[in-house]
Amino acid sequence: MKDLLKKLCATFGPSGHEEKVRRLIEEELRPHVDELRTDVMGNLYALKRGKSDATIMLAAHMDQIGFIVIDVDKKGFLRISPVGGIHRACALARRVVFSNGVTGVIGWETEDVDHRDKSLDKLFVDIGAADREEALKRVMIGDMAVFAPDWAELGEDLVASPALDNRSGCALLVQTMKNLKDCPNNVVGVFTVQEEVGLRGARAASYDVAPTVGLALDVTATGDTPKGEKLPVKLGEGIAIKVMDKSLITSPGVVAGLEQAARSAGVRWQREVLYFGGTDAAEIQTTHSGVPVGVLSIPCRYVHSAVEVVSLRDMEEGLKLLATVLGKAE
Ligand code: CO
Ligand code: ZN
Repeated sequence: MKDLLKKLCATFGPSGHEEKVRRLIEEELRPHVDELRTDVMGNLYALKRGKSDATIMLAAHMDQIGFIVIDVDKKGFLRISPVGGIHRACALARRVVFSNGVTGVIGWETEDVDHRDKSLDKLFVDIGAADREEALKRVMIGDMAVFAPDWAELGEDLVASPALDNRSGCALLVQTMKNLKDCPNNVVGVFTVQEEVGLRGARAASYDVAPTVGLALDVTATGDTPKGEKLPVKLGEGIAIKVMDKSLITSPGVVAGLEQAARSAGVRWQREVLYFGGTDAAEIQTTHSGVPVGVLSIPCRYVHSAVEVVSLRDMEEGLKLLATVLGKAE
């Protein structure tokens, strides 16, 4: 899973521009599934047919947070606005890349700066252009950039990279679909678009699939760093089963089922409660007349920065749990 994850993290794909990520996932999955299709929004559906009428939808969002160019000044510096949630502190002094390969660095105004300001208003992207005209030959207003790919391995099983939210969930879903042999139920792995700007792809996809049960695979923030958020999830303590975040309360029956499966398979797991954030399962839950949903979360430090950190072992636990859950009839 590590090699695939590394490739996924290095692939450009901010919200609304997930096509390169989708192409990579299609190539990976084509020999392993019964059907692959893409909808109008760009969601990718990978189907494995089962023996029953029940359909389990697994959703992992392909998009990553990014920046959009909103203005170019006379000297050729680009002004940017976030696409998804990016705190000023995480954007400062980072390297970014555009879809066409143009690279820039994020600089900052030093005059009259209020360091409590969380917006990107006083930041700019320097792409090395001499003036506005030269800059506009390389990028246009409305073009998007992402944190430049950067992969590092920390200790035994941790990796640090931009875009681990949610390419780690994508890698987990790709591997799960590859491993599935005979499934009692239909399994649709959906690689969704535009999660970071409001779970938009998942809205269309859940309406399309109308699943019997839905599960989202995503990352979650941890509470295990010095003076960090007060959160129960710890990196390296296993896959997290979500109880609640700001977008949803997961279905108690699904949570109980996941926990029971985890116990029976000897999977390391922990419960997740997040008082901010949201994920695709919220859209699955409220489609049609309602769908029971759960979420498996990969613990992730420094979420929405250029150095997100996850544990490969936690991901392996997620893989084990999914294999157990999908092997059972619904
Ligand atoms: Co996110
Ligand atoms: Zn996410």
